This record gives sequence, C-alpha cells and structure tokens, in this order.
Amino acid sequence: MNRVPPAKRSHRLSQKGFTPPIPALGLLRKFQSRLLQWYDRYRRDLPWRETTDPYAILVSEIMLQQTQVDRVIPKYHEFLQRYPTVRHLAKAPLRQLKKVWYPLGYNDRPVRLREIAREVVTRYDGKIPNTAEGLLAMDGVGRYTAGAVLSFAYRQDAPILDTNVSRVLRRVFGVDGDPKRSPAQKHLWHLAKVVIPKGKGYLFNQALMDFGALVCTARKPLCLLCPMNTFCKAYPVN
Ligand code: ADE
Repeated sequence: MNRVPPAKRSHRLSQKGFTPPIPALGLLRKFQSRLLQWYDRYRRDLPWRETTDPYAILVSEIMLQQTQVDRVIPKYHEFLQRYPTVRHLAKAPLRQLKKVWYPLGYNDRPVRLREIAREVVTRYDGKIPNTAEGLLAMDGVGRYTAGAVLSFAYRQDAPILDTNVSRVLRRVFGVDGDPKRSPAQKHLWHLAKVVIPKGKGYLFNQALMDFGALVCTARKPLCLLCPMNTFCKAYPVN
C-alpha cells in the first residue's frame, strides 16, 4: 500500500511534434468530481485562501516555493502587516526586508519579490497583471507562479503545475518520463489545463494541491483510502 510503482502505460511520447494525449472524458469527469468531493470534506483552511488580493497571493506563493505551509503561515501574516501593498514592498529597504524574511531561508526570494513589486509599480501602476503574458514578462515569475496568481487571485481557469500537482497527475493518468523535461513536462502542463472543470480553476487547483499534500504524497501515499484508486494508473490492480 505504501509503494507506488511507476505508471504502467506508456503514451509513446516522442520529442518532436508531440501532441499530448487527452484522457477519456469519462475518466476526466470522474477525477474532477471525486477530487472536488474530497476537497469539500478535507480542505485545509489557509490564510491565502481568504483573499483575492493578487499581491497577497503572490507573496504566499513565493513563500511557499521552498517552505512548508506551517512555517509560512505566521510569516505571511507578519509580512503583509509590514508591507500591506505592492507599493510598500517596492519601497522596502533591503536589509529590513531580508531580516523579516530570514527565518524562511533562501534569501534571494525577498529580493526577487521586491523586484517584481517594483516592476508592477513602475510598469503597471501598482496593479499585478491579470494575463499570463503580462505575468511571465516579469523577471522572477515563472509558469507556476503565473498560473497560481491567475487562478487564485483572478479566478481564471489557468493551469498550475508544482511538484504535488505533477505527482498526482503523473500517477492518476500514467505519465511516464522525467516530469521536469519535455515531452513529459509538456504532457503534464497540458493535463493540468484540461483537467480543470470549466469555471472552477480556483477551487480545483487548490484541491489538487491539498490532495497532493495530504493523500497522494511522495512517500507513503494513502492509496487504500484514495477516492481515485479505482482508476488511478499507479494503483497496482488497475
Ligand atoms: N503550496 C503552494 N501554493 C499553495 C497553496 N495555494 N495552498 C497550499 N499549498 C501551496
């Protein structure tokens, strides 16, 4: 029960001209409804789920990039108290900023975040862009962060793919290959987009994250209790 073998089915992906396969509609629907049902019951109450402020969500996502949720929560509150808007952060003295951030480690993150804040102030009049193009044009914003801001703050059906989400999709839909490289990476981003039920990007992406963090974990996944175990490609009997 504790060991998840590699996915059994190969999609015969080739690097060139690869068009990612779309899972059967019935499978997609089952995955969507079971995930949302599960989330309704087991969701975590997290402070960045109580806001639609794109700045607060951006702060939370940068903090969560390399730090566990439990450690981020108090810092998230403290940081937003000290720098409540993107303009406050843009003006923050670096020494002070690093001091506030220090317990979270990885000190290039606050510097990157302040750079983003400065760009938002100078180029976008203090408003964080609400398009993938606008977000990705900023140094320090990658595809994951852009998707998180678009879906969590602007409530768009934008895909997200972090390690948790990637693991869930790889196992359930049986994606082989190195998830950090194409063609598997391209396949996973495509899946992350097509699994979102129309109009539910916010809810669904949060659900994927919690499911990856609480059930479909890297070590000791809870396969016997998992609502996907009747069709998950990584479950030994399927
Ligand atoms: N890790 C990164 N973003 C997250 C989020 N919004 N909720 C929970 N965990 C996360």
